[in-house]
Amino acid sequence: MADLDGNKVEKNFQVDIPFSMDNNFYVKGAGHLEWGMKKHLSNIFCPKSGNTVMFAFDHGYFMGSVSGLERLDLLIPKLIPHVDVLMATRGALRTCVKPDFRKGIALRVSSGSSIIFDDLSHEVVSVDIEDAIRMNADCLAVQTFIGADGQVSSIKNLSKVINAGNRYSIPTLGVVAVGKNLERTDQYFKLATRILAELGANIIKTYFCDKFEEIVAACPVPIVVAGGKKLPEQDALKMAYNSIQGGAKGLDMGRNIFQSKNPVEMADAIGKIVHEKFTDKEAFEYYKEKAESRK
Ligand code: 5RP
Repeated sequence: MADLDGNKVEKNFQVDIPFSMDNNFYVKGAGHLEWGMKKHLSNIFCPKSGNTVMFAFDHGYFMGSVSGLERLDLLIPKLIPHVDVLMATRGALRTCVKPDFRKGIALRVSSGSSIIFDDLSHEVVSVDIEDAIRMNADCLAVQTFIGADGQVSSIKNLSKVINAGNRYSIPTLGVVAVGKNLERTDQYFKLATRILAELGANIIKTYFCDKFEEIVAACPVPIVVAGGKKLPEQDALKMAYNSIQGGAKGLDMGRNIFQSKNPVEMADAIGKIVHEKFTDKEAFEYYKEKAESRK
């Protein structure tokens, strides 16, 4: 292990040079993977745009019934036609989502936190690979807490899931939890995203921040951006646009969709940015028109 003495701050990300290892497959860093992995990744990332709109409603695994998700059975069926991937717990899927939908599944497989306990960083792998296969998961989502007290156990969880996923050709989605004291610096996200990718995660979820394009350049697998707390729709769409412009291969939003006054229209507007190169202003106009016409 290299010592940290004299560790230089990296600075040459060559952000204008595209990733060089495409190996005739459109998902970053997946060129050397085998057929099954590529099939799952193509269920997540649209072959045409290369991007994805993931709808995250896995919050219940540690937050219980979150505002906006009080009735999964009523909300989720409305949103399925407007997103590419459902990010959910097995409990939510099995009880509230009919299996006849034709979209990707990002299955939440880690748990152990709850909002009534101050340290969220100690999780376990709660879904085994056999149940993930039964659920037809296209990727396995594991929360990781780099820099927190639960760092080692969360990296152990991630590695265990990557090992099992590789055995059965199911990609792993490494979820970067925000750093200690909720830091959201580019330095923190550069460290966390790169660690997860080097450990073998096939997709990384993180947050948008300054110098985001450097984080993307330094990460050899695709990055999708979490929305974080609810923002005004215009601001959330600007963050979505900036993320895609910065090299993200999609958004994995939850609260900014299900806590919107118009969740379906918001999901559609995000899709316009992700798949049709809309600017945030064009997407916001689209959102307003769709919401107005629904009244
Ligand atoms: C919850 C998660 C969510 O999937 C992720 O944070 C995206 O949801 P939101 O956009 O609401 O932050 O990991 O633990």
